[in-house]
Amino acid sequence: MGIREIEIASGNNLIIHELEDICDSVTGRALTGSWIWDSAIVLSHWMSTQAKLNFDFTNKTVLELGAGTGLPGLTAARLGASRVILTDIEPLIPVLKKNVEVNGLEDRVVVCQLVWGSDELPSQLSELGQFDLVLLSDVFFDAAEMAALAKTLNKVCGKGTTVWGANELRPWTSESLRELESEGFGIVELWNQLSDGLHEEVTGGNPEEFSVFQLVPPDQDFKHLEVWSPILA
Ligand SMILES: C[S@@+](CC[C@H](N)C(=O)[O-])C[C@H]1O[C@@H](n2cnc3c(N)ncnc32)[C@H](O)[C@@H]1O
Repeated sequence: MGIREIEIASGNNLIIHELEDICDSVTGRALTGSWIWDSAIVLSHWMSTQAKLNFDFTNKTVLELGAGTGLPGLTAARLGASRVILTDIEPLIPVLKKNVEVNGLEDRVVVCQLVWGSDELPSQLSELGQFDLVLLSDVFFDAAEMAALAKTLNKVCGKGTTVWGANELRPWTSESLRELESEGFGIVELWNQLSDGLHEEVTGGNPEEFSVFQLVPPDQDFKHLEVWSPILA
């Protein structure tokens, strides 16, 4: 941990500060958003290489939920988004602000606290209305948290919102995605590292398997997209 320089695309780097020894004051456990997860590297690389061929980031409004150190949201800003909001729980706000500042993105990226499932959205979000793009990296880790995540997604998504989430495929990833389906979200697997040699080069040879999913909010039609078929029991 410390300071990392991540190449998100050829010649385009972001500096990311990670935290050490930050623990939840109640549980005493390390706060998982203190460091960059490989899912964030996978999502950022996928956005800046493949997604940008079909999705124009220019002038888009972008929200990242459970941002941790904020790599995917900062990537969206680098790719041309006009307004990016990075959110997470309160103890992670200082490192998110630091990462906005060290990359010189203060003109278009803001940071605020957002706990999933909250009844009220922070004013910075309500002012922007519904977002063009919502980013999620390694947040499908606990099925019990998905109802709260779905509640927040329903508040920030409109008919034109795209939602992308990258995750390592662990047994509980599938469970979490099924929970989101039961909340009315469509799930489409857009990319899987097994079908693409990109992954190992990005994560430094980590043998785990990653996917990027599109989540289709309940009020959007996704019949034209191929539906996710769970690949984990
Ligand atoms: C596994 S970490 C991933 C961090 C970052 N997205 C990444 O990929 O590097 C999960 C993140 O979700 C955040 N999170 C978990 N539950 C949350 C909740 N109920 N409300 C807001 N954020 C939450 C954590 O604080 C943490 O930053």
